[in-house]
Amino acid sequence: MQLIRVHLWLIFLLVLVPSVRAQQIGLIANTDGRKTISLDGKWQVIVDPYESGFYNYRYQPLDNGYFKNAKPKTKSDLIEYDFDSSASLQVPGDWNTQSDQLFFYEGTIWYKKSFDYARRPNTRLFVYFGAANYLADVYLNGEKLGQHEGGFTPFNFEITKLVRDTGNFLVVKVDNKRRRDAVPTLMTDWWNYGGLTREVKLIETPTTLVHDYMVQLAKGSRNRISGWVKLSGDKLQQRVTIRIPEAGINKSFTTDANGFAEIDFNADLKLWSPENPKLYDVTIEGETDQVRDQIGFRSIETRGTEILLNGRPIFLRGICTHEEAPLRGGRAYSREDALTLLGWTKELGANFVRLAHYPHNEFMTREADRLGILIWSEIPVYWTIQWENPATLENARNQLSEMIARDKNRAAVVIWSVANETPLSDARLSFLKNLISHARSLDPTRLLSAAMERHYLDATTQMIDDPLGEYLDVLGCNEYVGWYDGLPEKADGLEWKSKYQKPLVMSEFGGDALFNHHGDASTRWTEEYQENLYRHQLAMLKKVPFLRGTAPWILTDFRSPRRPLPGIQDYWNRKGLISNRGEKKKAFYVMQQWYRELQK
Ligand code: GCU
Repeated sequence: MQLIRVHLWLIFLLVLVPSVRAQQIGLIANTDGRKTISLDGKWQVIVDPYESGFYNYRYQPLDNGYFKNAKPKTKSDLIEYDFDSSASLQVPGDWNTQSDQLFFYEGTIWYKKSFDYARRPNTRLFVYFGAANYLADVYLNGEKLGQHEGGFTPFNFEITKLVRDTGNFLVVKVDNKRRRDAVPTLMTDWWNYGGLTREVKLIETPTTLVHDYMVQLAKGSRNRISGWVKLSGDKLQQRVTIRIPEAGINKSFTTDANGFAEIDFNADLKLWSPENPKLYDVTIEGETDQVRDQIGFRSIETRGTEILLNGRPIFLRGICTHEEAPLRGGRAYSREDALTLLGWTKELGANFVRLAHYPHNEFMTREADRLGILIWSEIPVYWTIQWENPATLENARNQLSEMIARDKNRAAVVIWSVANETPLSDARLSFLKNLISHARSLDPTRLLSAAMERHYLDATTQMIDDPLGEYLDVLGCNEYVGWYDGLPEKADGLEWKSKYQKPLVMSEFGGDALFNHHGDASTRWTEEYQENLYRHQLAMLKKVPFLRGTAPWILTDFRSPRRPLPGIQDYWNRKGLISNRGEKKKAFYVMQQWYRELQK
């Protein structure tokens, strides 16, 4: 009898407990236009370098770790932490620039946020994170919701069954320790800002919601919309209508038993372009839910060495940027940060920005949609990743999926990049080919690229023949002639060759200068040296027959732990055309002048 009772308990535990823990659905595509409650602001935190809130002294995971947010019940109780009397940090925000003690900190910090939420009947509730760098373990009311790896893409968990009207506590263990098998890996040239770096919010939805959708022009078409709609919930077969009132569009489809419907119909649209960044109000309306979005429609293709936007050749007048808050420093996360960075991009005369080396926050892509700035978006497969490690590949694939999931309806985003400066090897090639076919399966409409390296055929000939080029639509290439490779004048005699009949975007070039540090043109770190370098670069680039875009490194000086030179770098990479205080260097005007000429 006893044995039967034990078995019944086991069945209860094995079957019912998971149903209490949320069944997770993928990323909710669009949170705009939904009922959301922000959890931004002050969060209580515990800095836990030894992860004693997660492991016991035998380094075994604890059952009653800090995620329990325990309080002593009696005067004899032993509880060695207390969120509510601990320090606090602002969310969104990296921890490194919020406290001098945390400037170089890499490790675990626990975040806790308390909230009340009276959930309405027949609704579901999700907690959504814009990003958390790097590894986030998320708990609600002491229950594990799940884990997310990757510091630059959004994720959400369903909390419908766990949330209570009052006294909820959301606890997130955020760990930004670098790991050899991670993406990115141990070495990067950017600051490893840790924390809940983007917004956190609650999203309330009907029980069956419009979970995800892609509404874009079909590949190569300028008058046919094709895509899909996906519902999630218990009423999956529904009539779904796509409405674009301004274009007189009102198309209905029926979702299948999985809540999925392909959409495909002709449309007479004003096409989105940098000159005319036309966005349409689009509504996706089901029987139980509807979402609104602002979507631009444009086609992007290549033909030989041409890049075609809406069927016409275009030159990508670009610039690279990191996701660092202008003037304030630290991770950028707000609309204002995005408007400042994109404003400087426009001032440079650019129509294109390379978001390096990871997906930036959604304000960047949505404001670029509004401002008419084309985007290259990249996952941090950067330098020497563990190519043979299947977990590393899965992690990179997941970051790629999440990047595409969030921004697949953004007209501004035209290029997905799967890598930056990765060393040639068979393992690397198969890793990156895997990512490329994954991206094409998720989004057949955009161009694929990567920032590759070049080599010298002879003293004056640069060759682009990285085998990866075979699988890309656009060749990206980083070169530092005049900075890491010789002096600026070296560019004068250089000729560029490519194994591929494909367009080239010079995805990085440039050199360092400290703002207001002056000298003759051959003195490193001076504005004159940088200015001179750019002059020689542009003269060389203008002669490259298959060049269809440039993205100098970089818009603004940015923090890097690899740059300690006192009085010059002080942990800043000084290759910006603009200083970290927003001051324009001489080279800025060299670039601006060329971009203005190109617009004539
Ligand atoms: C590399 C790399 C950048 C880096 C830059 C530099 O090419 O892609 O991330 O910051 O060079 O050395 O400044």
